Amino acid sequence: MSGKIDMADPKSGTIVLVTGAGGYIGSHACLALLEAGYTVVALDNMVNCWKDERLSQPESLIRVQILAGRQLRFYQAELLCKTSLEQIFKEIIQEFGKIDVCMHFAALKAVGESCSKPLQYYKNNISGTINLIETLAKFGCKSLIYSSSATVYGDPATLPIRENDPTGINLTNPYGKTKYMTEEILKDLSNAEPDWGVVSLRYFNPVGAHSSGLIGEDPNGIPNNLVPFVAQVAAGKLPSLKVFGGDYPTKDGTGVRDYIHITDLIDGHVKALEFILKEFKGFKTYNLGTGKGYSVLEVIRAFKAASRREIPYEIVGRRPGDIAASYCDASLAQQELGWVATRDIDDMCRDVWNWQSRNINGFKKETDPNCLLHSPKKLELLLSNLTKLEHQKAGRKLHLETIDAIDEAKLLQDYEALQKLQKVLKENEVRRLEGKQPASGQENVSLPFCCCRQ
Ligand SMILES: NC(=O)c1ccc[n+]([C@@H]2O[C@H](COP(=O)([O-])OP(=O)(O)OC[C@H]3O[C@@H](n4cnc5c(N)ncnc54)[C@H](O)[C@@H]3O)[C@@H](O)[C@H]2O)c1
Repeated sequence: MSGKIDMADPKSGTIVLVTGAGGYIGSHACLALLEAGYTVVALDNMVNCWKDERLSQPESLIRVQILAGRQLRFYQAELLCKTSLEQIFKEIIQEFGKIDVCMHFAALKAVGESCSKPLQYYKNNISGTINLIETLAKFGCKSLIYSSSATVYGDPATLPIRENDPTGINLTNPYGKTKYMTEEILKDLSNAEPDWGVVSLRYFNPVGAHSSGLIGEDPNGIPNNLVPFVAQVAAGKLPSLKVFGGDYPTKDGTGVRDYIHITDLIDGHVKALEFILKEFKGFKTYNLGTGKGYSVLEVIRAFKAASRREIPYEIVGRRPGDIAASYCDASLAQQELGWVATRDIDDMCRDVWNWQSRNINGFKKETDPNCLLHSPKKLELLLSNLTKLEHQKAGRKLHLETIDAIDEAKLLQDYEALQKLQKVLKENEVRRLEGKQPASGQENVSLPFCCCRQ
């Protein structure tokens, strides 16, 4: 046992620092980590996640904490500002005693924008990462899980792509280069300082949303990726889809990609975390994909079936820099991490549609006075109460937040009501996944958010 937290639950003694926590992948990771019992410290500068101006945290993370029934510690932190980063790390160490592992998601990721603003991408993604690893080391953490990408393979000479295939060749955009260069930096660091343990996870195409439909991908402006674009066409927010290239040497002439459900992707991170916690030292890369390629037309068909909406599309010329096909061999992650993706394209489209149709404007909402999320005071009290009760139940002292004037009866009432709601919601989710209707009388049960009351 170490740190200030008195551990009744051994995993809560493991402190996981998550950068880019408010974003698409980071928020799903925070939820999985909280659900698995870890203590989560979340950082984000909020350049790419939405926040209600009356709240101190991104909306995605507020929902994560309500879903998990546990609180995380959030810091608005800018990786490019080393002085303030060090100050935040000092506070983290004062409060938690240590950082065990860092999951590093923070980055800029828009491929097109990286071509028009290359310096911004190199500075943010590379200098930001260097600041982070120097600060981690200064405060005693030398374990890192890095968000890499299939883009590091460029246009692959052979398929499926394996981890020891060449990387860094013919990369067509600065974003992809930042992912490749960061991997090289992390590799060199692990060679030079053998007490570092770094796992770089090369994502193929993450799509999907948490099965609750409360968190998902919320692109700023016109989506860059196929599935969020298709979702907005299905929802009537965009008129039609342009399919770039119908003459590739693939099954139907359109580009083929390996799509992976966000829940599978995050399971891969939890496995990597368990792996790194077993004192892993060195540098390892793993592909995270399903190993199966779907064409653009197959994705459109699957989304049409999931949403029961028309998806108008038009096939146009190829887009410069695009490749014909990319899918991976994910067997190394299976052998060494014990991880395998289990969800297919129909699951991905179903969950994206569930998220998109409940949150037509993503996390941004119109004001609804009955929604818990629109009452910041009530929400903050509930989160504080949850934390206090959780700590009390585990028989440990509260260090996360100092809470004054707690009304014990109200506290129990809120907590138990939330637990009950969560239980029914989980049962309904299982029934929905099995293709069944919710149990009688439970059809309209929802967490107290306006987006759930549709
Ligand atoms: N989504 C994908 O398709 C995909 C594919 C491969 C790899 N990745 C990688 O996964 C990671 C997460 O991607 P995502 O889809 O969740 O992106 P995202 O934009 O939704 O999340 C990234 C988060 O990082 C934050 N951030 C950016 N720069 C920061 C900085 N300097 N300091 C602090 N916070 C900062 C942003 O505010 C955002 O909330 C990224 O590193 C991305 O390159 C994503």
